Amino acid sequence: MQIKICLYGFGNVGREFARVLAAKGPYLKARHRIDAKVFAIVTSTGGVVEPRGFSERELSERSRLAHLSSQEGFREGDPEDLSKWILPWIDGAGPTVIVDATWSDLDTGEPGLSRLLKATAMGCHIVTLSKAPLVADFYGLVEAARRHSVQLKFSGATAAGLPTIDTIRVSLAGAEVQSIEGILNSTTNYILTAMSDEGLSYEDALQRTRAMGLAESDPERDVTGIDTACKVLILANAAMNARKRLSDVRITGITGITRRQIATWAMEGRSVKLVGKAALVGDDVRIEVAPAPLPHRDFFAQVREDAKAVRFTTDLFGELVMAGGAGGLTAAAGSALRDLVNLAELFRHRQGGR
Ligand SMILES: NC(=O)c1ccc[n+]([C@@H]2O[C@H](COP(=O)([O-])OP(=O)(O)OC[C@H]3O[C@@H](n4cnc5c(N)ncnc54)[C@H](OP(=O)(O)O)[C@@H]3O)[C@@H](O)[C@H]2O)c1
Repeated sequence: MQIKICLYGFGNVGREFARVLAAKGPYLKARHRIDAKVFAIVTSTGGVVEPRGFSERELSERSRLAHLSSQEGFREGDPEDLSKWILPWIDGAGPTVIVDATWSDLDTGEPGLSRLLKATAMGCHIVTLSKAPLVADFYGLVEAARRHSVQLKFSGATAAGLPTIDTIRVSLAGAEVQSIEGILNSTTNYILTAMSDEGLSYEDALQRTRAMGLAESDPERDVTGIDTACKVLILANAAMNARKRLSDVRITGITGITRRQIATWAMEGRSVKLVGKAALVGDDVRIEVAPAPLPHRDFFAQVREDAKAVRFTTDLFGELVMAGGAGGLTAAAGSALRDLVNLAELFRHRQGGR
């Protein structure tokens, strides 16, 4: 089966996705009978298209070259003109998928939200690495996908290398998820570990994550807890039907934590972690992000450096805890690949196994 991909965003994540897709092409064909080809790559000022789909070699080369706008075949144009970048590849023979690796505004979800809604109306499936459209209007996107019979996948927006949403949807199917707790942000976990173990100040620890390439050039969303809040909010809406918005989440980040506080907690036998939590309280779901000083015997207290972890509490299966999964760009790109494979398998199943 051929999957036709329109890749939106050719920055850190988009390029890595192109590189990984090119490298894994033969494996996808042999193992999954999937020929996943990129037909368009779109950035903020225009894009490149290839009506036969880019070969693995060309895709790999483009992922290494300079900015897309200076690459061969680049055409200036409005990225939101989907009739140009997406519509030509929709033919019903196999799934056409938009892979969204761009930034959008967290309050409005734009420009990604409108783009994804329009894509669903064209019959295009969605794989999004961008959290903002899901944060701004999760239920609008779910409803649009349902109405137009397309799939909406977002494992790259909910902790990427650590499988969260797929675990809930497949492995915990049938169970009521009563709470979700997670260490969901690598940068903050690394900072807190370095402050605890090495006695670094907050500023020095933050500087280290920047030097390691772990923190974004603007790590504001990480250290203020907003990134964790977005992830736990998406999971709570998806798994607990929380019907919440980002403004409903009580958020405390790690910027106010001092070495002295950490030393006091250490003397009490506790390690501090930034934990996002969604819990059923009566008919409501309460969502909160805050630094939690945890006893050393707590599993989360052992999750160190850039690792992530999640704990689900359910009625049927009790408590399930998972930790690990690579962080960084390759895992983010890999999540989009995972979504594509799962999407294709479901598409094939619905077509009667072809
Ligand atoms: N970094 C990670 O580890 C990670 C992990 C999971 C998810 N994510 C998410 O992935 C997304 C991209 O992150 P990144 O680090 O790759 O960002 P980035 O390096 O800044 O790249 C963003 C790309 O999006 C393009 N873009 C901006 N506005 C656009 C528009 N209206 N239409 C089409 N393209 C547009 C930019 O175009 P120009 O090149 O023209 O500027 C650029 O190519 C973010 O939502 C982020 O939260 C990142």
